[in-house]
Amino acid sequence: MLLSGSKNLFCLGYHVYSSVWLFLSTYIFCLILSELVILVGFMLEHVPLGCVYRQTGNMYKNVKRKIERGVAFPTCISVNNTVCHFSPLASDETVLEEGDMLKIDMGCHIDGFITVVAHTHVLKEGPVTGRAADVMAAANTAAEVALRLVRPGRKNKDVTDAIQKVAAAYDCKIVEGVLSHQLKQFVIDGNKVILNVSSPETRVDDAEFEENEVYAIDIVTSTGDGKPKLLDERQTTIYKRAVDKNYHLKMKSSRFIFSEINQKFPIMPFSARALEEKRARLGLVECVNHDLLQPYPVLHEKPGDFVAHIKFTVLLMPNGSDRITSHALQELQPTKTIDDDPEIKAWLALGTKTKKKGGGKKKKGKKGDKIEESAEAEPMDVSSNGAPLQE
Ligand SMILES: *[C@@H]1O[C@H](CO)[C@@H](O)[C@H](O)[C@H]1NC(C)=O
Ligand SMILES: *[C@@H]1O[C@H](CO)[C@@H](O)[C@H](O)[C@H]1NC(C)=O
Ligand SMILES: *[C@@H]1O[C@H](CO)[C@@H](O)[C@H](O)[C@H]1NC(C)=O
Repeated sequence: MLLSGSKNLFCLGYHVYSSVWLFLSTYIFCLILSELVILVGFMLEHVPLGCVYRQTGNMYKNVKRKIERGVAFPTCISVNNTVCHFSPLASDETVLEEGDMLKIDMGCHIDGFITVVAHTHVLKEGPVTGRAADVMAAANTAAEVALRLVRPGRKNKDVTDAIQKVAAAYDCKIVEGVLSHQLKQFVIDGNKVILNVSSPETRVDDAEFEENEVYAIDIVTSTGDGKPKLLDERQTTIYKRAVDKNYHLKMKSSRFIFSEINQKFPIMPFSARALEEKRARLGLVECVNHDLLQPYPVLHEKPGDFVAHIKFTVLLMPNGSDRITSHALQELQPTKTIDDDPEIKAWLALGTKTKKKGGGKKKKGKKGDKIEESAEAEPMDVSSNGAPLQE
């Protein structure tokens, strides 16, 4: 829940909160657009990293209270078989090339209200074809299915099973270790989660989605085996302060860096790019070794594999689910189709609007009660080649 406590307080909070969250979506959308335009210039180093601070800084200028704002997740651009979290330092000289499959991942917040988004784009003119198209269609269709299954009253494990089936229909895998999370104020990884892949060894508490919750739906698909590896720890540049951990650091450079982190990034994930590079290199190691920081490692599938990533923020509003961050995909011509899969088609035909029975006669659905979807809900269009079309 966004806010617990007395009912009146809750209603008040809910209105304010959801409007902040809706505002944010517009900004993220503009950011993604401007980032893509610049990316087509193939110049990784020119991505405007100050952009999030500028845009979020332009909002709520005339309020008295100081409002925290800015980056909630550093911008990452991961290519081809790199799964995620590639956010290079200023000294990096990587240049993007034609044909690269880019995963752009970012997040921002105002007053702790977080929106996140990830989008996949192949640097080329014309439609994406072959396995590259399959893996992107798999991620996008799985995201559309998840949007329809993350509804009040439904359970997290239903979503896990469904997204795996969608990926399998495109002969792809859901990448292990990727979890969809509940978002709370100042909490990017809330405790209600949707598992990557269901397996007996990994246990996640069964949870039911509820009205007025916010989720980051995070779908990563691969043409490979979906078991990514860490190749080089030195590629890691994103960290988050583990707020419940304390340790007396021995090295001077570690203490220097750690105090800079506590000052600038006490809660949200940050990139080492924002620290003093030379000292950070030394100091971060001791902080990570003593669990003061949680690293976000850069993982890889095998060379030649393609990985696609779609992430969005959804508000479970009383009138339905609002997906507040998205960007249209380029044209896809996948080799596989979901046209002959009745189960997936049935999920895609589910609505995202809520229409409760009997105009308020039934006060509040008991746990487990099915919430009726309205007839005017928008089912997703599926084009003849199986590529999902954006609304
Ligand atoms: C990514 O894959 C495309 C298509 O196979 C290829 O043209 C490109 O060189 C690859 N990029 C990298 C960095 O490996
Ligand atoms: C899912 O993610 C968790 C946490 O990262 C990982 O330990 C687990 O191996 C993954 N799932 C499966 C099926 O292995
Ligand atoms: C719910 O209502 C809000 C405000 O009227 C509207 O912007 C939003 O699109 C509605 N959501 C759904 C899923 O109908």
